[in-house]
Amino acid sequence: MIRRPRRNRQTEAIRNLVQETTLGINDFIYPLFVIEGQNQRVEVASMPGINRFSIDTLQEEVAACVDLGIKAFAPFPSIPEQLKDKYASQSHNPEGLYARAIREIKKNFPDVAIFSDVAMDPYSSDGHDGIVENGVILNDETLEVLGKMALAQAEAGADVVAPSDMMDGRVAHLRHVLDENGYQHVGIMSYTAKYASAFYGPFRDALSSAPKKGDKKTYQMNPANSREALLEAELDIAEGADYLMVKPALAYLDIIKSLRENSHLPIAAYNVSGEYAMVKAAAQKGWLDGEKAMLESLLSIKRAGADIILSYFAKEFAQLQQR
Ligand code: PBG
Repeated sequence: MIRRPRRNRQTEAIRNLVQETTLGINDFIYPLFVIEGQNQRVEVASMPGINRFSIDTLQEEVAACVDLGIKAFAPFPSIPEQLKDKYASQSHNPEGLYARAIREIKKNFPDVAIFSDVAMDPYSSDGHDGIVENGVILNDETLEVLGKMALAQAEAGADVVAPSDMMDGRVAHLRHVLDENGYQHVGIMSYTAKYASAFYGPFRDALSSAPKKGDKKTYQMNPANSREALLEAELDIAEGADYLMVKPALAYLDIIKSLRENSHLPIAAYNVSGEYAMVKAAAQKGWLDGEKAMLESLLSIKRAGADIILSYFAKEFAQLQQR
């Protein structure tokens, strides 16, 4: 045999030399959950190791992450039920939980990058990403709310706004609103191909943001479709997105690869709550080596073509790197 691929797998030194993909802490954005109150640190039952923080303890968490080398964060707010309404009015309140949290992080850690979430669901009494009228999600009316929300986040200090709502035309609208108000420097990370997925369950537990009625299939994508992801990507590129995202990550590695091959923009992938919960649950039962399963899944997302990974594993990954 002239070709023996095993020669390049013989020793760790050789394996490391021929390794095609590597993970580093700069690849990650760490999602954070924020709640009202003081001195709060409440674990999400379906996400072992992940907490909801009040704004004060959140600063300690960010400090710990910064010490580990994490420099990018994606906060999400858990809004008390009594403050939710049909139009998600709290989403653009400059004194609301989210704006206060962003301001406080940027005040204490001016060098970190904040990727803020633009979508109505955490603030909506319907638990949907858009305005609901007679069971229908209104697209263009929702854009108005998203614009106000993005502006409030930019004012609070967000570096990049990240629309996770899947309304048509939102990237163009947000770009317009930000530019009109002097926020030309604020970027847009679009959730380009966001699928209607079962893997968001634990996130909806964390924020109590599940839809009160129906599902999200009239705006989030059908998991059966991949050409449609290219259509969404074309629109986001034309509308001015600075990053494209695929979500979830692991069941959609082919979509990550396809966007990577069809765009010059940075590609992000969201390793979502359910993907985290599966590994943690199996590891708790002793059915999987959690650490190895984590590293292998993260590596696969990078190998598929993601430049950036949003993951609840980011802190654990960073801790591993320090050992
Ligand atoms: C909603 C939103 C969701 C996630 C991020 N933003 C859930 C949903 O669409 O219902 C999920 C993230 C995760 O599961 O980790 N705008």
